Amino acid sequence: MRSISLSLLAIALLEVTAPAYGSPQAMKRKGGNEGGGGSGGNANVISTAANSKNSVCKPWYAIRDDIMGGIYGGRCNDAARAAVRLAFHDAGPFSLARQQKNLPNGAADGSLLVENNGGEGNRAENNGLQNIVAALKPIVKKYGVSPGDVLHLAGTLGVIACPGGPVVRTWVGRPMLLKNIAPDGLLPNPNSPVSVLTARFADMGFNVRELMALIGAHSTGRQRFVNTTLANEPFDSTIDIWDVRFYSETQNAAAAPGTFRLNSDMAFSRDSTTQKDYKRFVGNQNDWAEDYSAAHEKMSLLGISKSTLTDCTEIMPQAIDLKNVAVSSSNSGKSSGDAAIDPAKLEAEIRRTRSIWLN
Ligand code: HEM
Ligand SMILES: *[C@@H]1O[C@H](CO)[C@@H](O)[C@H](O)[C@H]1NC(C)=O
Repeated sequence: MRSISLSLLAIALLEVTAPAYGSPQAMKRKGGNEGGGGSGGNANVISTAANSKNSVCKPWYAIRDDIMGGIYGGRCNDAARAAVRLAFHDAGPFSLARQQKNLPNGAADGSLLVENNGGEGNRAENNGLQNIVAALKPIVKKYGVSPGDVLHLAGTLGVIACPGGPVVRTWVGRPMLLKNIAPDGLLPNPNSPVSVLTARFADMGFNVRELMALIGAHSTGRQRFVNTTLANEPFDSTIDIWDVRFYSETQNAAAAPGTFRLNSDMAFSRDSTTQKDYKRFVGNQNDWAEDYSAAHEKMSLLGISKSTLTDCTEIMPQAIDLKNVAVSSSNSGKSSGDAAIDPAKLEAEIRRTRSIWLN
């Protein structure tokens, strides 16, 4: 028998008891955002290369560990947040109208990780992404994989690194060669009117409901450059939690103390063309998780032909269900996402589901 470390053995033993993530049982829920085999104490929480279901995905376990462990330390840190924003800034300049005219149209191609990328990385709109770009570039080189795959894996891992973040279906196989340096001026400005913003997202391929789900990513974000006097103020009162507090606090008349609200987010919560879809997610963590997961997957594939891709969602760890870490657990089986979090329960859940990546 080969020698095997105790912790690996423990993981191997746990894996016998529950369907691996990505198995038909685990994936039967649409969107697959339940994560590993449920929330029980002995579920398969972190899959390993040894149990890979698809040989194409096998090398991606090490890449996952370099990002989730080496860069995020298993936690919702600044790098994890920046990677979620990076995923949007890479894919967001995609334009259906420009694609139809055969003009450069952006894509979820990892162009922000490529040298000589037409100055894309130096644009003001990408300010604040320098550290995550610098951390991810060596991974592209080390493994010889495409920049788009690394960038968008970092994005889906960034989501799940934040407690409450759902599993987002994760694909690999984007082209190695950069086709589309994103045109300038296509990322949204927080001071644009709602009609301009919804039109820009429609040109990416997103309807209003998808846009309202996507902006919930601000639940774990902060601003640095919109108002430098108030730099580092978070968009909601729980920056470390991927929850729907962002939606309730942004629609309120007054900001929660110490938080910063983007004009665009406030306008979405109030405008007659977006309000209905916005309010869908207020106090509804489960619906948001499902919608967000599907919309983020779509974002990670903008301008990319799916025919060459492989679904490697099997590498994703189990999502942390906020109802298991709330101060008082509800028995409704649903999570409002607004419930107060018990820090001790949360830490125990992070230790259970992120063990191999914690420092
Ligand atoms: C109307 C659409 C959007 C606008 C106007 C917008 C604008 C902004 C602005 C101005 C910031 C602060 C930048 C800074 O000063 O440091 C920010 C941060 C952020 N945005 Fe957006 N955003 C939009 C959509 C999205 C989408 C679709 C995602 C991802 C799905 C996203 C993810 C993030 C994240 C995670 C941060 C925080 C980054 C950090 O804390 O380091 N945003 N956004
Ligand atoms: C930034 O915030 C400060 C403090 O609230 C405010 O006085 C100032 O007008 C803001 N600046 C901008 C550019 O909005």
